[in-house]
Amino acid sequence: MNIYNESQKAAKIIRNLLVLIRPKKGERTLQNINNVIRQLIDSRAYEMKKNMITVAFDLSHGIPGTMLELEQIQVALNNILSNAEEAVILAGERRKIEIITRHRRGNVEVVIEDSGQGIQQDYIKRVYEPFFTTRGRGRGTGLGLFVAYEIITGHGGEISLSNRTEGGTAVEVKIPVISVQQWSEIKRQIDKPQAPSQDYKGARALVIDADAAQTKALSDILVAEGFLCDTATDSAGALDALKKGTYALLLMDLDTAARDNRRLYNSIIAEHDYLKDKIIAVSTDWGTIEARFFLEVTGCPHVTRPVLHKTLVSLVRVMLT
Ligand SMILES: Nc1ncnc2c1ncn2[C@@H]1O[C@H](COP(=O)(O)OP(=O)(O)OP(=O)(O)O)[C@@H](O)[C@H]1O
Ligand SMILES: [Mg+2]
Repeated sequence: MNIYNESQKAAKIIRNLLVLIRPKKGERTLQNINNVIRQLIDSRAYEMKKNMITVAFDLSHGIPGTMLELEQIQVALNNILSNAEEAVILAGERRKIEIITRHRRGNVEVVIEDSGQGIQQDYIKRVYEPFFTTRGRGRGTGLGLFVAYEIITGHGGEISLSNRTEGGTAVEVKIPVISVQQWSEIKRQIDKPQAPSQDYKGARALVIDADAAQTKALSDILVAEGFLCDTATDSAGALDALKKGTYALLLMDLDTAARDNRRLYNSIIAEHDYLKDKIIAVSTDWGTIEARFFLEVTGCPHVTRPVLHKTLVSLVRVMLT
């Protein structure tokens, strides 16, 4: 690989990641998804023509507008579309992409289908991982679908990939329709400074974390909400505390490599069945195999460090009501 490619790749990484952290994040405008698609295709028309790719549209009429962060959704759809282009180019002859939009069950849906070679079943789950790419060294950054996933789920939506029966891949994006009024109500809720509710006055919480500073950060949040907070630094301490008291909530840090987190989780559930839906897992990195496996097996609600007051409290609210 040469320096030009390297710097192109670095620029692409930065462009992709910048969009996730732009200060403008949160500014939404009413958009018709069909227009977003048309603009996107216009911006890529030259490249597509050059690569002899034909695009067919099945854009539903009367699709309602929805509040979107336009620039972000453009990036997400662009990343999906460029994957489709790469797939049809790789597959050769019949280079066809079809874009379908529809309004269904409160969502606007966009499906981008390609006549490429399809996608291996065991990749389907992994494509959203940052840096997952099959494009060979120095080609893809593996950030395209990671960023698309973050943006779409950030809009409360979903993305999924599947193989089409007639060959090729279909990428389906669903975004909930949110009206201007609904969005202003949501924004009001988000922006409202959250006074500690003290809703949980007297309820006990246990934080299991080997790191004193991290423990303090978590218990400060819980105490502000009225919890009485105990802490344990290891598995033995945790099991001991659970023998002595009854807890409304348990926060379990997964970053301690020395501990077998799944075994601890299983012991807790085996001995204290009532805690089944009361455990929140905390980690800095959900990308590791252990962390992903833990979530897969336990189905535990989870938060990412650094844990924000608002995030933890909203989760606790959902769990404890
Ligand atoms: N339409 C598709 N058809 C077949 N495979 C796909 C398709 N879209 C994505 N993939 C697979 O998912 C992987 C991850 O896609 P992603 O967009 O995240 O990264 P990338 O395309 O490899 O790199 P970059 O987007 O930075 O160029 C791809 O390498 C490819 O294997
Ligand atoms: Mg890509």
